[in-house]
Amino acid sequence: GGADMPVVIALLNSYSGLAASAAGFIILNNVLIVAGALVGASGLILTGIMCKAMNRSLANVLFGGLQAAVSAAGADQQVQGEPHPISPQDAYFILEAARSVVFVPGYGMAVAQAQHGVRELGDILENNGAEVRYAIHPVAGRMPGHMNVLLAEANVLYEQLAEMDDVNPIMDAVDVCVVIGANDVVNPAAREIASSPIYGMPVINADRAKTVLVLKRSMAAGFAGVDNPLFVKQNTRMLFGDAKASLQQLISEFKES
Ligand code: TAP
Repeated sequence: GGADMPVVIALLNSYSGLAASAAGFIILNNVLIVAGALVGASGLILTGIMCKAMNRSLANVLFGGLQAAVSAAGADQQVQGEPHPISPQDAYFILEAARSVVFVPGYGMAVAQAQHGVRELGDILENNGAEVRYAIHPVAGRMPGHMNVLLAEANVLYEQLAEMDDVNPIMDAVDVCVVIGANDVVNPAAREIASSPIYGMPVINADRAKTVLVLKRSMAAGFAGVDNPLFVKQNTRMLFGDAKASLQQLISEFKES
């Protein structure tokens, strides 16, 4: 798959470092040996972190195309149930009453360029008395650190960012989890459906929040091509539309009130 490419790039990059280091030994250049070893080691560490976050072995990432037919069979499993759409006005009432809010950004936030809207809504919620956090999955988006870079660009405070492992234990106590263009990284099938191609992948447990508000355009699947039971859960409300436009509507509701 083309989107496994960041892992392959990190691996090949580390090989370039190891090659430089080996060249350093041949021409007896200490700087080349040390610099090459640093590039090689950091590339290997990054490769390992990305594979772990996707719960896949390096061999599976490199040669996974050979197993595509097996994965497609698992992906056929349909999610039962109907989604519960919500209007921006009703979503406003839910957010207005929330005392703790966790935003989970994903690839759709990057597509919609909605990071500034997320920050603005986060600030409004904080001024409204809510505790606001941003939970970032290691492989959210399409490259390592994708969400961190976008949220930093929007001046989200570093202290408000939370790792998946830190936010999952407290998700039961969260009033509203706002999922912004994320899909695979909040898919409970990874925990609940053993035949799912993403079974075993660590995910952010958004479904365990008291209310989940999902901002996306349709019921379409994410990168993994797997249906997401989160979208039909009883505590989930779907705010359909482009993430940036939906956020602007929510911000307008707060400003008008
Ligand atoms: P995805 O599972 O890819 O889901 C993104 C969602 O964003 C889609 O379901 C899409 O739904 C929605 N979307 C797209 N444009 C939108 C817009 N303008 N407004 C609102 N929503 C929009 O994203 P994710 O949860 O971040 O997961 C990342 C996936 O990429 C994982 O499977 C991961 O393994 C894979 N991956 C990650 C990396 C790295 S290093 N980050 C590298 C390779 C692969 P609609 O079309 O319905 O709007």
